[in-house]
Amino acid sequence: MTKRIAVIGAGPSGLAQLRAFQSAAQKGAEIPEIVCFEKQDNWGGLWNYTWRTGLDEFGEPVHGSMYRYLWSNGPKEALEFADYSFEEHFGKQIASYPPRAVLFDYIQGRVEKANVRDWIRFRTPVRDVSYDDKTALFTVTAHNLVNDHEYEETFDHVIIASGHFSTPNVPEFDGFSDFNGRVLHAHDFRDAREFAGKDILLIGSSYSAEDIGSQCWKYGSKSVTVSYRTAPMGYNWPENWQEVPLLQKLEGNTATFKDGTTKQIDAVILCTGYKHHFPFLPDDLQLKTANRLATADLYKGVVFAKNPALFYLGMQDQWFTFNMFDAQAWYVRDIILGRIDVPADYDARMADVNARIAAEDAGESDYDAIHYQGDYIKELIADTDYPSFDVDGANEAFLQWKKHKKEDIMGFRNNSYRSVITGSMAPAHHTPWKDALDDSLESYLQN
Ligand SMILES: Cc1cc2nc3c(=O)[nH]c(=O)nc-3n(C[C@H](O)[C@H](O)[C@H](O)COP(=O)(O)OP(=O)(O)OC[C@H]3O[C@@H](n4cnc5c(N)ncnc54)[C@H](O)[C@@H]3O)c2cc1C
Ligand SMILES: NC(=O)c1ccc[n+]([C@@H]2O[C@H](COP(=O)([O-])OP(=O)(O)OC[C@H]3O[C@@H](n4cnc5c(N)ncnc54)[C@H](OP(=O)(O)O)[C@@H]3O)[C@@H](O)[C@H]2O)c1
Repeated sequence: MTKRIAVIGAGPSGLAQLRAFQSAAQKGAEIPEIVCFEKQDNWGGLWNYTWRTGLDEFGEPVHGSMYRYLWSNGPKEALEFADYSFEEHFGKQIASYPPRAVLFDYIQGRVEKANVRDWIRFRTPVRDVSYDDKTALFTVTAHNLVNDHEYEETFDHVIIASGHFSTPNVPEFDGFSDFNGRVLHAHDFRDAREFAGKDILLIGSSYSAEDIGSQCWKYGSKSVTVSYRTAPMGYNWPENWQEVPLLQKLEGNTATFKDGTTKQIDAVILCTGYKHHFPFLPDDLQLKTANRLATADLYKGVVFAKNPALFYLGMQDQWFTFNMFDAQAWYVRDIILGRIDVPADYDARMADVNARIAAEDAGESDYDAIHYQGDYIKELIADTDYPSFDVDGANEAFLQWKKHKKEDIMGFRNNSYRSVITGSMAPAHHTPWKDALDDSLESYLQN
């Protein structure tokens, strides 16, 4: 009897899994039956933009955290698929920091070519997963939203690819209830133009704060104030941008910070990160981890140590993204196809997890973290037929990116890098990022 595999989510991670199996089949391997459950009406995960916030038309929590005008925050040369280059997709080399629509098109191109759309059941959230020790099978409960029909099916393996940047972490600060302006989390931010002419306060000092602040600055906010808990980002910001210690309270429209300074503000955007959240999983199958490079409980970063028939993709904090999801997906595929062994002993699996945590903790800088994740990709792809690529070259693109951000935080996206897949240099984009208000695919590809 053919094995059955459930993949939960058709974002970049889930799609990498479909492509991994399809690529094995293309080379003549016999592959299991794959069923991918996707709650949205299209693939692409976060890259599938939605204007909706809160609940969708079926009452489901909206997955999307992306907003209009989002451009890649890292160079595309550090995430390029090794089996499907940007040049293959667009028929030419393109500039290095594509907007969301361009990356969505690229992600979609590879799976259209692989012809795997039929493996996906759209508009079908998974509600529950359980495991039966006796039969060694998982029962997946799914909900066809269109027909409003819930049903169960059994699978030999389940692969969780549901992402972890969709359930917001929402702290409360004194005075929020009485504030006369909007308070929202980055998850619900959609269009910077809403904040044109306003004094905005962002809480958090990571990528969302940096990028949402930059968007609002670009589209005309009067001032941007970023309040940090641990440390400021420390870039050379424009003159109407300041970094201040943590917010203590709001009184009317006056924000007071830990150093006693105050600022009049019109809106608060909480850029306070996300939670790993798996409401469809029972406690014993749930990954419980901080957002870090070495996740808790995942052997080789993908096999759930407590039940090695269950896999998780893309649950790490991310320097690398698409190519790391590929490395993981090819590795999981080969475990399922019996090409790679997983230690039968729980302690041996946990020894691997603990070694990874110790190795991450031994790193001291972002540079160490980038190399750590690059080494992880090298480790996984060495064991599969995922096309080998110059991971050190991708590391180098990240190092250049960090340097360019230090030099000019509002201009780093004007730089170009060399593809580690095709070796060709990206052209400069036709318009500096801060002046490029039209971020459509058509506009971006005009190079
Ligand atoms: C605002 C923002 C900007 C980002 N920008 C970049 C960037 O510039 N460059 C970069 O490389 N990365 C970026 N990322 C990182 C992003 O995490 C990855 O690029 C990528 O989208 C992760 O893919 P994924 O498939 O693991 O998760 P997701 O993209 O989150 O996809 C998960 C999928 O699972 C589905 N799903 C969830 N629960 C269920 C369920 N119960 N049943 C069925 N389906 C379900 C969802 O609908 C979704 O389609 C950004 C993230 C955020 C939040
Ligand atoms: N254009 C883009 O491509 C783009 C844009 C936005 C986001 N992203 C991606 O989205 C992902 C998530 O990034 P993120 O910035 O949302 O999350 P994140 O990296 O997890 O950072 C969360 C931030 O919130 C702060 N924080 C958490 N709880 C807090 C509290 N109670 N009080 C005050 N501060 C608190 C943290 O501060 P501490 O430092 O003190 O912990 C940290 O600065 C990343 O992968 C990123 O690359 C990409």
